[in-house]
Amino acid sequence: MSSGVEDWLTDSNEALSLQLVRSEEDAEVLAEDEVQAIEPFHPDFTYPIFGDKEKIFGYRGLEIKLHFASGSLKQFLEVTYDEKIKSEDTPADDIEGTLYNFIPADYTKSAVAFDAIVDADAKTFRPLGEKIGSYTRSAVGSGKGKGKANGEDGSAPSEDDENAVVYEMYKTTWSTPGFRDFHRRMQVFILLFIEGGSYVQEDEDAWEFVTLFERRKRPDSDIFTYHFVGYTSLYPFWCFPDRIRLRLSQFVILPPYQHQGHGSHLYSAVFAHMRSRDDVAELTVEDPAEAFEDLRDRNDLRFLVKQGITKDPKFLEGVGSEERGPRAKWEAEKRKQHKIAERQFDRVLEMLLLRQLD
Ligand code: ACO
Repeated sequence: MSSGVEDWLTDSNEALSLQLVRSEEDAEVLAEDEVQAIEPFHPDFTYPIFGDKEKIFGYRGLEIKLHFASGSLKQFLEVTYDEKIKSEDTPADDIEGTLYNFIPADYTKSAVAFDAIVDADAKTFRPLGEKIGSYTRSAVGSGKGKGKANGEDGSAPSEDDENAVVYEMYKTTWSTPGFRDFHRRMQVFILLFIEGGSYVQEDEDAWEFVTLFERRKRPDSDIFTYHFVGYTSLYPFWCFPDRIRLRLSQFVILPPYQHQGHGSHLYSAVFAHMRSRDDVAELTVEDPAEAFEDLRDRNDLRFLVKQGITKDPKFLEGVGSEERGPRAKWEAEKRKQHKIAERQFDRVLEMLLLRQLD
């Protein structure tokens, strides 16, 4: 009876509830506008885990809690329901068994044990790898620069300011001690938030990663706590004759932190880091989602304007001319200098020209 079966189906995106958990002490200092950082959120996609239809069979009132310690990303799993189907022909889906294939085996199912992990990690967890950049924001509620993550209005506080929330970016590879385990806990966000996303191969040695963390000083103490915000993964390809082309493969900012400028900061820091490296010829992007393409365009435009490209005497020279030679030479030089991939450079340059000619 199909109507009977429908009764036992649950939308897996709705059933799965994610949460980044801070210790009680760290949670209670968050201002009203910041508490979203610790509120539950749902995945955008679960089809890689629960199948194309994103449905789970066999339960009523199903809730799957997958919680993460906000810094170390150690996990807590709890599956609850009001009712489970009792049928040998059509047994209920095995939720934990399914998830087990996608998360590391060291999650806990004990709320008490998880609280203890969160408390301990809050004091001891430090991001892994080499710090490659940082930016600040005033703690929301402290007035100055309220809600802004970019400080581009000149209001970003110094890192020493008591009210500053600092965001730090760390570069890692598989050889960074402890990173393989951290990555196994973090990678599930790729499946849950990037359409068509899949896990990277751990036996491909050359992967590079940049993680982004929020850093806060506990009031009246010397303790700094770190909270995961997002990350990106990059893969180097050989670029003739003796350099590499870095391809940005995955990029995710977790929902509680989206639309606050963090994606732009992470992208810009990766881009700046890549430009500072002699071994890298250019940055390319694999299969960008529309929202990411927007972010990349905005940041590349801002970057080229800052670099003074629109003030370059040759910026408008030869535009629309039949004789492409000199113009093409200038464009190629600029593109190489700024290490932007060819198609992207052409697009952004065209946007700048259109803006100028308007
Ligand atoms: N206050 C309010 N809005 C702001 C602020 C602010 N302080 N700063 C920026 N914004 C706005 C921007 O103007 C922008 O607006 P728009 O979407 O209307 O253009 C928007 O916020 C996004 O900009 P950011 O905040 O810099 O970007 P965000 O941190 O939200 O990251 C991203 C964007 C990466 C796409 C994120 O939403 C995400 O991770 N999504 C899910 C995963 C995904 O799709 N990843 C990309 C896949 S492609 C790939 O991996 C190669």
